[in-house]
Order: sequence, then C-alpha cells, then structure tokens
Amino acid sequence: MKRPVKPSKRSKAFLAAQPLLPRGMKRRFQIRLLKWYDEFGRDLPWRRTSDPYRILVSEIMLQQTQVDRVIPKYHEFLEKYPTLKDLAEAEPEEVRETWYPLGYNVRPYRLHGIACETVAQYGGRIPRDAQQLQSLKGIGRYTSGAVRAFAFHEDAPIVDTNVMRVLHRVFLGTGDPKKQKSKLWAMSETLIPKGKGYDFNQALMDFGAVTCTARNPYCLYCPMRDFCKAYPVTSN
Ligand code: ADE
Repeated sequence: MKRPVKPSKRSKAFLAAQPLLPRGMKRRFQIRLLKWYDEFGRDLPWRRTSDPYRILVSEIMLQQTQVDRVIPKYHEFLEKYPTLKDLAEAEPEEVRETWYPLGYNVRPYRLHGIACETVAQYGGRIPRDAQQLQSLKGIGRYTSGAVRAFAFHEDAPIVDTNVMRVLHRVFLGTGDPKKQKSKLWAMSETLIPKGKGYDFNQALMDFGAVTCTARNPYCLYCPMRDFCKAYPVTSN
C-alpha cells in the first residue's frame, strides 16, 4: 500500500530554490565551504561567546561597519554595559557617546531601545523567535537570522552583502544581485546543512570577506571555482 505523502514543513521559498541548486552542487558547496572555514575562518571576539546580548551588540555594530573597526568598540561597549540590563538603565545620550565614532548614529538609540523593550517584555532575555525578534525596532530579517543562528544555534538563513555576492556569483552568475534578493534568501535557507547553521553562516560571511571579495576576488585559489557560475571574475 502506498504511504500518504507528508506535507512538507519547508517554506515556499525553500522549495522554490530547489531547482536552482542541483544536489551535487549544493553538497559540494557545503563540504568545501566548511572545510575552507576550518582552515581560514577568522577568530573574532563574538565567536568566543554564547551570550545572546553580546552577539546582538556585535551584529548591530557590524550592520554598517567593517570588522576591524568594530572589534575595539565591541570590547569597550561591553565593558561599560556588560549586560542588557546595564544598557537598558543607561542614558541614551551616554550610549550614543560610547558608540562614537562608529557612525550611523541611530544604531545606539535603537540598541538601547531594544534593551529597554527586552527588559520590559521578556524579563531581559533576548527572544529566539523570529517574529518576536523582528518586532523589536532595529532588528530586521538579517539581524534576526544572525541572532537565531549565532546565539541560539538555529539553522536560520542570513543574507548580508557578502553572502548575497557569494551566492549570486556561485549559483546564478548573471543579473543584478539586488534584484534577486528573495531567490538568494531562499538559497541561503536551502544550503544550510542540518544542525550546522552556526558554522555555515559564519563561514559564508568569512568567505565573502576574505576570498570572494567584492573587488579582485581570489578566484584562482577558490574551492568553488570548478562549478562557480561567475568564474573567473575579472573585474568589478
Ligand atoms: N558581519 C556581520 N556579522 C558577522 C559575523 N558574525 N562575523 C563576521 N562578519 C560579520
């Protein structure tokens, strides 16, 4: 007797991305990326903590600022506000001063607002639910995915400019990546090996920052070059 087909728990976007990612290619990408990360992944301070608050601070700082500039400020900020409660109790103006000179000055106010709301609504614990996270002002789809993947080890997809560039080059090769965002989000969801959301997402980010760079990428040494749709990238 034929078994009834179970309805899929995967999202529509996930299913739509399937034909874009032939099985062999997906598997090769996953294996090679994780191997690359083992060898070349960066040792960054927010990868040495499992505190959701610290991870959130790093992700808000990294939204518009390069890693090198974020590192010293990340340490300074957390020394001054070691917990979410400390941050919630601080004066917003003082938080902005501590943030300086990172720029995009709405971010310290937003972060302070998130701290206050989290203390008021969730007893000072950052939620792990995507909807609850995204209801906090300043947390969009990207930051919510990053917090879920890096603080709670969920297989949540994340797509920032680096990730968008990597997936676009390797799997699509043509067209404007900004116009293919939903496809790239779906791909990123499909690609995560089960239970490996943390490493896989960190690896994707590092790969985009170190090898598959915006200008002059290191195609010659790239582990994806035999199936990359954009190989070799000559100029940008
Ligand atoms: N940019 C945003 N999040 C990052 C992370 N966790 N590691 C490196 N770069 C990032």
